[in-house]
Amino acid sequence: MSQAIEIVATKDGSPTLRTAAGITYHSTHGAVQESMHVFIQTGLIAALEAFPEGLVTILEMGFGTGLNALLTALESNRRHRAIRYVSVEKYPVPEVIWQQLTYTQAAAGQALFEALHRAPWNEPVMITPQVELLKVAGELQIMTLPEAVQLIYFDAFAPEDAPELWTPLLFRKLIDGMVPGGILTTYCSKGVVRRALQEVGFLVEKLPGPPGKREIVRARKPE
Ligand SMILES: C[S@@+](CC[C@H](N)C(=O)[O-])C[C@H]1O[C@@H](n2cnc3c(N)ncnc32)[C@H](O)[C@@H]1O
Repeated sequence: MSQAIEIVATKDGSPTLRTAAGITYHSTHGAVQESMHVFIQTGLIAALEAFPEGLVTILEMGFGTGLNALLTALESNRRHRAIRYVSVEKYPVPEVIWQQLTYTQAAAGQALFEALHRAPWNEPVMITPQVELLKVAGELQIMTLPEAVQLIYFDAFAPEDAPELWTPLLFRKLIDGMVPGGILTTYCSKGVVRRALQEVGFLVEKLPGPPGKREIVRARKPE
């Protein structure tokens, strides 16, 4: 299953995808810039500090282009931290599309990107000596969450496009699957989203966003 998509350039020079309905997978101000800011700097770095020992388990909502997975694996290599990366995707991007995406000029990085996409679905694999990847083909709403999630990259399409994914019901499922002190990051800081996160018990912070976006959200499960 897939949806009709085309490749478009964003303002930092990195590509993203756009659906037939005109919805982009990343900010048009910069795909890599946005992922680095929202998921790596605000999420991953904070989680590695909050959980300084052992494996860190990450759940990603929407594997999509694989950009967040790539940046996470590169950061894991840099910091010598072991990561279990579980990503769920309802509409896997076809090979003919992901083959045309370039997110790094480094050959090793591009080989890693290809390995992330070629990894089988629904089967955990070691993608680097430090990173275990499990890509789940299906829907977040019905997937079985991994145990003891420490970090969630909530990278769903925007609430106006996918309102069913920003509900207290789904956030309840997520917080229940997280360890105390676990972190959820997302690019969306709308009031309706913050209220839904707070309703299920998250402590919600608004933080400065990447260029083109005033604020983003980081939420923590209380200790
Ligand atoms: C904003 S895009 C981000 C994708 C990815 N994180 C990236 O950086 O390319 C949202 C993704 O969620 C996927 N998706 C939509 N509904 C979903 C659902 N119910 N469960 C899992 N994935 C879903 C879409 O197909 C898309 O790949």
